[in-house]
Amino acid sequence: MNVLIFGATGGIGAATARAFAQAGATLTLSGRDEARLQALAGELGAQARPADLGYESHVRALFEELPAPLDTLVYAAGAAHPEPLAGADPAQVRAVWNANYFGALWVLKHGLGRLNAGGRVYLLGARPELVTARGFTQYAASKAALARAAEIARLEHRGLELTLVLPPAVDTGLWTQVGRVPRGALAAGVVAQAIVANCGGPAQAELRVEG
Ligand SMILES: NC(=O)c1ccc[n+]([C@@H]2O[C@H](COP(=O)([O-])OP(=O)(O)OC[C@H]3O[C@@H](n4cnc5c(N)ncnc54)[C@H](OP(=O)(O)O)[C@@H]3O)[C@@H](O)[C@H]2O)c1
Repeated sequence: MNVLIFGATGGIGAATARAFAQAGATLTLSGRDEARLQALAGELGAQARPADLGYESHVRALFEELPAPLDTLVYAAGAAHPEPLAGADPAQVRAVWNANYFGALWVLKHGLGRLNAGGRVYLLGARPELVTARGFTQYAASKAALARAAEIARLEHRGLELTLVLPPAVDTGLWTQVGRVPRGALAAGVVAQAIVANCGGPAQAELRVEG
């Protein structure tokens, strides 16, 4: 099984890479932090393909250079950078939309054609009821845009097995952008195991991971 994971240098992405490696998958891992990416790829015997998902050219090149078609594609990149709307900083806004929306757009644009028949796509989304909170304008809006884009991708690609993964809070480095990890946050491994288990069963539009 050939699996490509974006955001593999992050908490959920790295845990998902480890879970797929344990299941015997052949892995290609992508992230921006080259040192962390190479270390994880070395540990798991995976290919490392650094890319900044804000650039369509990086994503296009990554898919053009893939040696083999994919069975599973996981999009686990993301950013939160909360700030009040009145003080929205253009660089932070762009960072959030690049990670949560534009990167996924380029991955769907260039990646869907590289999937084997019956191939699976997992996009990490967010539960609207959990992210409609002060400071989260860009995070909530970009995740809503991602969910709508996922619906339309299914309409445009008949038979596309695309699952929006909706975890509650998960204990990862993402929360360093917020200040503190919420009490009761799940371990990233729980999300990873849910994705790998889901991959072995029938595809669903949404995967609501529970503790
Ligand atoms: N943690 C939670 O509570 C939670 C809950 C629900 C959904 N989610 C979603 O789950 C996904 C994974 O989150 P996480 O908690 O694992 O976050 P994380 O640990 O902060 O990891 C974020 C990942 O996104 C990558 N990334 C960000 N901007 C990028 C860019 N421009 N180009 C390439 N890679 C970029 C980071 O790469 P580098 O570090 O290499 O730059 C890192 O691999 C996100 O979509 C997040 O919104 C998280």
